[in-house]
Amino acid sequence: MTAPHTVADIPTPALILDVAAMQANIERMAEFFREGACKLRPHFKAHKTPEIARRQLAAGSCTGLTCATVAEAEAVADFCDDILIANEVIGADKTARVATIASRGVDIKIAVDSHEGLAMAGEAAATAGVEVGVLVDVNVGMPRCGVQPDAAAELASRVAETPGVRLRGLMGYEGHAVGIPEREKREQVTRDAVDRLLSAVSAVRDAGLPCEIVSAGGTGSYDITGRIRGVTEVQAGSYTLMDGAYEKLDISFRQAFWVLGTVISRPAPGLCVTDSGHKACTEDHGNPDVDGVEGASILFLSDEHASITLPPESAIAVGDRIRLVPSHTDPTINLHDVIYVLEGDRVTDVWPIAARGYAEQRR
Ligand SMILES: Cc1ncc(COP(=O)(O)O)c(C=O)c1O
Repeated sequence: MTAPHTVADIPTPALILDVAAMQANIERMAEFFREGACKLRPHFKAHKTPEIARRQLAAGSCTGLTCATVAEAEAVADFCDDILIANEVIGADKTARVATIASRGVDIKIAVDSHEGLAMAGEAAATAGVEVGVLVDVNVGMPRCGVQPDAAAELASRVAETPGVRLRGLMGYEGHAVGIPEREKREQVTRDAVDRLLSAVSAVRDAGLPCEIVSAGGTGSYDITGRIRGVTEVQAGSYTLMDGAYEKLDISFRQAFWVLGTVISRPAPGLCVTDSGHKACTEDHGNPDVDGVEGASILFLSDEHASITLPPESAIAVGDRIRLVPSHTDPTINLHDVIYVLEGDRVTDVWPIAARGYAEQRR
């Protein structure tokens, strides 16, 4: 297959990227974090694409990158020497891979919320003769990982006593707050969550332990969390590409990627069907939006089909292209091998989504 020259040549379904919109988002976020003590640690899991992460680091205001998995950390370790896996790393194979990353001179940190996880991390690091950083993960209100704030100091003191690891600080992700559409409510829930994190920070410091990193925040809370004294970095990721759910919030980043589909059927005046079903676009945050077709909306997605309702007089025909705005960036990205980079209608590059899927060790 020859490389596509314009959007019309791209085989569908496919991800397409407006690189100018993405660059504007990256610069806008870097600008926000230029002022103030808190910096940005962009979350790589949103796009899993090294070419995008390089641009985020180049824009400045960053402490390093956030990753969700060991495979993501392996994918960025060639060009980023400061990585936080903001997630629990469990299993001897995975902790050994973290130690290998540390042995390459990367300042790598992982989240820990259990004695078991701490023991595994310490053992792997000590065996490899390296040091792995640890952030104690604090539950700040979302029923997911993390110790309760009043248990953080006890776990932190265990970290401090464990060979192979070094206590670097605390993290707490307010995922239950970031998507709240009303600004006032989002701000309140975010502030309550960060209060929980900062109460744990105080307890750790009162115990005489170091807490140099305090990491939190996402795209929906970056301008709240990022201005609270005591938070040292924000882990936002979705702002880079944006999605339908975040577009409904009052944050001014631009939609920069879409799922491109081809109309494969026009079975009734008020209906068309594209080849971009839920194997190409996830629905976990709701149906995608239809971009650029007046009055069109998703009826439902099936495996290989998007059924789209249209005004009956619509001129949409078999063979036409339709863009969907995914409701959730991260899992949609994870369905694709590459993203087509567009300047206007011209395809200027094709970037591998290098860390997609769950394939084993990346290097
Ligand atoms: C631990 C953690 N930090 C930060 C984020 C920020 O993500 P976003 O930019 O999508 O709000 C997420 C997203 O799920 C996350 O799980």
